[in-house]
Amino acid sequence: MDLPQEVSADAAETAVDVRGLSVEFPTAQGPARAVTDVDLRVARGERLAIVGESGSGKSVLSLSLIGIVNGSGRIAQGEVWLDGRDLLALRPDELRRARGKDIAMVFQDPGTSLNPVLSIEAQIVAPLRRHLGLTRAEARERALALLAETGLPDPARTLAAFPHQLSGGMRQRVMIAMAVACEPTVLLADEPTTALDVTIQAQIVDLLSRLSSERGSAVVFVTHDMGLVARFADRIAVMYAGRIVESGPVLDVFADPQHPYTRGLLASIPAVDGPLPDRLTQIDGSPPALTDLPAGCAFVDRCPSALPRCADRQPLLTERRPGQVAACWATEPADAPTREAVLA
Ligand SMILES: Nc1ncnc2c1ncn2[C@@H]1O[C@H](COP(=O)(O)OP(=O)(O)OP(=O)(O)O)[C@@H](O)[C@H]1O
Ligand SMILES: [Mg+2]
Repeated sequence: MDLPQEVSADAAETAVDVRGLSVEFPTAQGPARAVTDVDLRVARGERLAIVGESGSGKSVLSLSLIGIVNGSGRIAQGEVWLDGRDLLALRPDELRRARGKDIAMVFQDPGTSLNPVLSIEAQIVAPLRRHLGLTRAEARERALALLAETGLPDPARTLAAFPHQLSGGMRQRVMIAMAVACEPTVLLADEPTTALDVTIQAQIVDLLSRLSSERGSAVVFVTHDMGLVARFADRIAVMYAGRIVESGPVLDVFADPQHPYTRGLLASIPAVDGPLPDRLTQIDGSPPALTDLPAGCAFVDRCPSALPRCADRQPLLTERRPGQVAACWATEPADAPTREAVLA
């Protein structure tokens, strides 16, 4: 029987596989549990969107997919496999080599990611030569083509420029070109288009889509924009207080969300083919402190469907239809297999 988790492909097609992952940050109040017990697989060529409120753990989870924990965080539990390799067991130098070739990242703020003293050409051509073994001329040509694909109007001029000579939107597109340049196994994009105007956004999403369909890269996309999720992603993972509370094919989750939190997020969408809101809807109340998570479901205080047991027993992800899982006592059919039962 299939495990009631994100089984979307067999092992050979899996790009990233996260198992039982928990990430904590130390605080004066004790460990803040930013990510708790997450299982997640992303297949080659798959486009996964991670959504959820601010502070729900989207960035921490997506960084951990490529073996990075920011600040004082630590991986308290779990495994991260990239392309069949245990990322957490790699030496720092091995991890560095994997980055840039197997792993690429695009963040909302490109300011800190480009080297201010090197031209764009130096920053984009060198990795292309190193990772793809191209000659300087080939790498330059490829760089120009990529910059053009991101919608930059004058690729040759951009290539010759230094970061401070470009606008924020242009730097962002340079970052995206650099990220797709080496055809990584996984491309992680954390709100990459938030600062860009709508036309450029559409071009970037198109570029990332092609990267996944033509080059087989897995693209993990963190966003607040449900319209973007609908246009871009194959699959959605909804996070709440550090856990994935629902995931599945985008159309199935949008048509019939199984977690009350997902229902809340999608509440203002009248129909799958109707107009989509630009931002997530607000749900009354706020999530619990990550230093003081309840024994049961973390959504219980805000949940319109809460049952007595929700407060003291953690609901586990159970399969609701093929590929769609949710962790909720209230919507769980009586015969849904629990993870324990399936693993036994
Ligand atoms: N560098 C850090 N130091 C301490 N705590 C952190 C750090 N980064 C994240 N956290 C903790 O982890 C939680 C999840 O953070 P994360 O950045 O993943 O949220 P997010 O879902 O990406 O939010 P947003 O939508 O605002 O980007 C935060 O609420 C915070 O408690
Ligand atoms: Mg974030």
